[in-house]
Amino acid sequence: MNKKILGIGLGILVSVGTVFASGGQQSGRAAASASKGLVGVLMPTRSEERWIKDGDAVKAGLEQLGYTVELQYADDDIPTQVRQLEDLITKGAKALIIASIDGSSLSNGLAEAAAAKIPIISYDRLLMRSSNVDYYVSFDNYKVGQQMGEILIKGMNLDSPAKKPLIIELFAGSPDDNNSVGFYDGAMDKLKPYFDNGTLLIGSGQQGRDVVGTLRWDAAEAMKRMENLLSAYYTTQTLDGILSPYDPISLSCLEACKAVGYGTAGKPLPVVGGQDCIIAACKSILAGEQYATVLKDTRSLGAATVTLVDNILSGRTPTGLDTSSYHNGSKIVPSLLLDSVIVTKDNLISTVVDTGYHTAAELGL
Ligand code: BGC
Repeated sequence: MNKKILGIGLGILVSVGTVFASGGQQSGRAAASASKGLVGVLMPTRSEERWIKDGDAVKAGLEQLGYTVELQYADDDIPTQVRQLEDLITKGAKALIIASIDGSSLSNGLAEAAAAKIPIISYDRLLMRSSNVDYYVSFDNYKVGQQMGEILIKGMNLDSPAKKPLIIELFAGSPDDNNSVGFYDGAMDKLKPYFDNGTLLIGSGQQGRDVVGTLRWDAAEAMKRMENLLSAYYTTQTLDGILSPYDPISLSCLEACKAVGYGTAGKPLPVVGGQDCIIAACKSILAGEQYATVLKDTRSLGAATVTLVDNILSGRTPTGLDTSSYHNGSKIVPSLLLDSVIVTKDNLISTVVDTGYHTAAELGL
């Protein structure tokens, strides 16, 4: 499988502060002055904590610079997002920031936007199979996947395992989201040596993104799959770890495990990581249940996107972009890739609470 075509390569990490030669001003200009134009922001769903934080950060940043912002959520419904895109084009948006539901489903709208000379910024999820995508702002998704692998290596103590083999199950993200490729490949590349030397074994034998993927990142679907795996494969063996690409999937898997008796001294919960650093996952980590998560700071992603849009609309040429890693099937999309952080019980307070990502009160502290 050609990683380039699927948009995944080793993204070059760049620091937001060095991205633009003439960087965008974040403050000072009053919203009271005439609007600098409408910017449309499309987010996939309001039912996930992270997209609400993303939407709020982008909207507030753009409004502070004097833009009018229309922020729309599509309830994970593709036709709704298609309509929202067309609506914003009709309303004369000057730029569009899009986190897609299905990366390949917006091509007609993107072509219309391009014909109207509206710059398109693919937000966090790469818009696929369209040449009408101007920029991509995200995290280094392959590296995020590697971090998911590292979490299991450390949490399961794979370098000096308590027994051999340790038994694991794999979960992947939504098959229509290109990020799932980086997450899964990055993690599996990290875990491969441990499969090869017999330290790790997949209890059910189920692997491959097509087999272990979770459509629309649906935690209820993942819970059902975990329950089925536990009853089919774990009556005589014990599950030691779970690869999970998303906190709600991790928490659902842990629930399913508890329901069949895991979580005692004699039968500890499997080691599970996650992604997005949602409040419930942080609480679970502090309680010693979920082992870790990957924090992708939506505030940095929002700020980088705001700066990018302001530069484009002010006629400044964005610089410092990665122009080799993300091919969307039609073209290489110039990308701004931010860094992510592994969060465990040991550094949760310093990385999450002290930085204000979640407050102590939100975490019940
Ligand atoms: C994002 C993740 C998120 C997932 C589910 C992915 O595209 O990169 O941060 O957990 O979608 O919404």
